[in-house]
Amino acid sequence: MKAKRITAIMLTLAMLTSLAACSGAGNESSTSGETTSAVQSSTGEKSISASESNEGSTEEKSAETSVQGNSSSSESKNLVVYFSASNTKDVDAVTGATPVQGRVGTVEHIAEIIHNQVGGDIAKIVPSKDYSLDYNTCADEAKAETDSDARPQFEPLSVNIKDYDTIYVGYPMWWYTLPMVMYTFFDTYDFSGKTIIPFNTHAGSGDGGTYQTIKEFEPGATVKDGLAISGNSAFDSSTEETVKSWLAGL
Ligand SMILES: Cc1cc2nc3c(=O)[nH]c(=O)nc-3n(C[C@H](O)[C@H](O)[C@H](O)COP(=O)(O)O)c2cc1C
Repeated sequence: MKAKRITAIMLTLAMLTSLAACSGAGNESSTSGETTSAVQSSTGEKSISASESNEGSTEEKSAETSVQGNSSSSESKNLVVYFSASNTKDVDAVTGATPVQGRVGTVEHIAEIIHNQVGGDIAKIVPSKDYSLDYNTCADEAKAETDSDARPQFEPLSVNIKDYDTIYVGYPMWWYTLPMVMYTFFDTYDFSGKTIIPFNTHAGSGDGGTYQTIKEFEPGATVKDGLAISGNSAFDSSTEETVKSWLAGL
């Protein structure tokens, strides 16, 4: 009887010890699980908002996938986004009056060359209010916006800026600066931790100090040396090579 009681006590002790061990292992597992997901999530935040690298590591990609909820390649972290006014409408060369949709503007042309080289996505900034098709009237409208430091609105982008690490931003020179819709663009999004690579077309002003302006707009971003191309030579056959060698030097 005494021996039976001792055996029962020993069995109970053994079960308690084993339960305690399971429970400990469970805690350890759940703690380590929590830690892992916290690390992943903070890596995800970093990879999306703070990585300046174009080469997505596996960790970065999986973190991005979990945030986006779909699979993604390192390529898709590049975005080319641009404003090119003459792309939206143009005056028919024959009649001189009929709006023609789809003429490729100089900035759009450069944007397409860049996109072909770097991959990823491409998106156009479309102002909510069209500018006049008449050059002089358009110039007046743009001047009024610049003089009043206006922030013209634009249609929702087809992409989500936060999904990209490296963003090529294109625009024409307007009145010695960026078109004011580009001011709205930079006001709208937080580029902290991202890399901005500007490019622009012009009729003699070069970049007109706009790359510096962008740096001042986005102190938390890395703003690389841009490429300024004369609108007159944008469609020259040599332009593609110019763009390629600029990209190679970045
Ligand atoms: C309203 C307006 C203002 C402009 N202001 C300037 C300027 O200050 N400096 C300059 O070099 N070019 C200026 N340009 C010329 C454009 O930058 C040039 O034509 C550019 O190639 C247009 O790009 P897009 O074809 O993509 O619209 C201006 C053009 C417009 C329509």
